[in-house]
Amino acid sequence: MPRDFLKTSDWSREELERLLASAARFKGGEDDSKPLAGRSVALVFFNPSLRTRASMQVGIYELGGNAVVLEPGGTSWTLEHRDGVVMDSDKTEHVAEFVRVLGRYCSMIGVRTFAALKDWDAERIDPVLSAFARYSEVPVVNLESAMHHPCQALADMLTIREKLGAGRKKLLLTWAWHPKPLPMAVPNSFALAAAQMGHDLTIAHPPGYELDEDLMREINNAAFDAGATVTQTDDVDEAFDGAQVVYAKSWGSKLCYGSPEDDTEMRAEHRAGWRVDAAKMARTDAGLFMHCLPVRRNVIVTDEVLDSPASVVIDEAENRLHAQKAIMKELRNADFGLRIGGK
Ligand code: CP
Repeated sequence: MPRDFLKTSDWSREELERLLASAARFKGGEDDSKPLAGRSVALVFFNPSLRTRASMQVGIYELGGNAVVLEPGGTSWTLEHRDGVVMDSDKTEHVAEFVRVLGRYCSMIGVRTFAALKDWDAERIDPVLSAFARYSEVPVVNLESAMHHPCQALADMLTIREKLGAGRKKLLLTWAWHPKPLPMAVPNSFALAAAQMGHDLTIAHPPGYELDEDLMREINNAAFDAGATVTQTDDVDEAFDGAQVVYAKSWGSKLCYGSPEDDTEMRAEHRAGWRVDAAKMARTDAGLFMHCLPVRRNVIVTDEVLDSPASVVIDEAENRLHAQKAIMKELRNADFGLRIGGK
């Protein structure tokens, strides 16, 4: 089986450290290797993207390879991911054939498949990404699934490392109001990677916006193993006290999958109180402001904070490129090693 990059906890702390070091070498210009020379990588986008799509295409080019971008239901056939179904509805092709065919042309497959926010029990197990990984004979890179965005999380850890240096930092992941419910992949992956890297993490959100219970167990275990702490609070002001990094993100309530109007009602009272502003940032320890982007100005964060020197969102977006080059190099080398080894 090829090695995949589906979530950071499939990789050990030491392996993540190796990826961060590799990403820093790419960024610093010390590594200009071309592990994808003469190779192609498929990028499958079920959903829109700026950063992920552009940084993957550029990264593949810089590693010597060629990107094949596909949009199921748009520029390629609609896809079924469930096993054992009678495909007499709107889906033309099954993931089982799709990924194995792509694997005959391409050395790696990246896939973006957001949560539909319709059925929590079904979506929390990442069904589409899992189908890609199950059937693929080449490495799969998660470009944001229903539950995880590990490329973003690795870039976030790289950004924290380059801005604040190595070692344990005090991080705040804060929920923010948004006009519509959003998936939980980014906060899930940020919290998980932060815990794995040994940072002290506070997760602030209003009641009803708890992350998945199994994932929280995994985050707590990772923090324990790394000698770090995880705290949850609904006090949005106190949460900022002493934070060295403020990571803002909106996400929908898992209690309201399938009923967005309930989520809208539940969120309404938090509209102003959970926006990141200068008063909140003043409570931090010269805290950095981070967001995965795209961000809605003066909804999630005020212009004043987003345009301040504390904001590192553009560097964070740049680091997607370097982090993903490190991931693709590692996966290509591991897969090449497997094939040479005849397994
Ligand atoms: N942060 C992020 O994944 O951005 P895009 O949705 O634009 O790819």
